[in-house]
Amino acid sequence: MKEFNFKDYKKNVFTEINDTWGIIVAGDKNTGFNGMTVSWGGLGILWHKPVAYIFVRHSRYTHEFLEDSKSISISFLSDEYKKAKGVFGSLSGRTINKFENTGLTPKYDSDTNTYYIKEADTVFLLKVIYQTEIKEEGIPASVMDRFYPTKDMHTMYVCEVLKCMEK
Ligand SMILES: Cc1cc2nc3c(=O)[nH]c(=O)nc-3n(C[C@H](O)[C@H](O)[C@H](O)COP(=O)(O)O)c2cc1C
Repeated sequence: MKEFNFKDYKKNVFTEINDTWGIIVAGDKNTGFNGMTVSWGGLGILWHKPVAYIFVRHSRYTHEFLEDSKSISISFLSDEYKKAKGVFGSLSGRTINKFENTGLTPKYDSDTNTYYIKEADTVFLLKVIYQTEIKEEGIPASVMDRFYPTKDMHTMYVCEVLKCMEK
């Protein structure tokens, strides 16, 4: 993988997140790590920094790692790995090791103390710089009914982009 500057990112953020899906890996050398698929979120700018916005529900095992560590990455893999992306998006790391199950390889980046997925086409290595709870107040009732029927709310993580890498 080679490093690139965030300003040289050429892909369509909307299709990458919505269609390709990302796999986030949260955690570091001390906490250990876990990964899950995401297709809600964004890439942008806040406080003059390049950032990723990630939304993780409280029920996810990955949420526990984000409570203990600021290290997180998002990896975008080609659809050759669609089955693996399905596994990372439907099974919990509480009950199985998704890396062993899918054959995807966790890789450690010592500069950022972050894990990512070796097979990815594009990787953003991140650090949580702000988080806030998505609260029921202000959410339209139809959205609550559709997306939060059990009130399993999201935490929004704003993550600084520390390093960008591509194949
Ligand atoms: C395409 C797709 C996108 C997903 N996007 C999100 C997301 O943005 N936020 C979230 O909390 N869960 C999302 N999920 C669900 C989690 O990936 C899923 O619950 C996963 O099994 C959680 O794993 P964990 O318990 O090991 O953390 C998505 C699932 C799929 C299949």
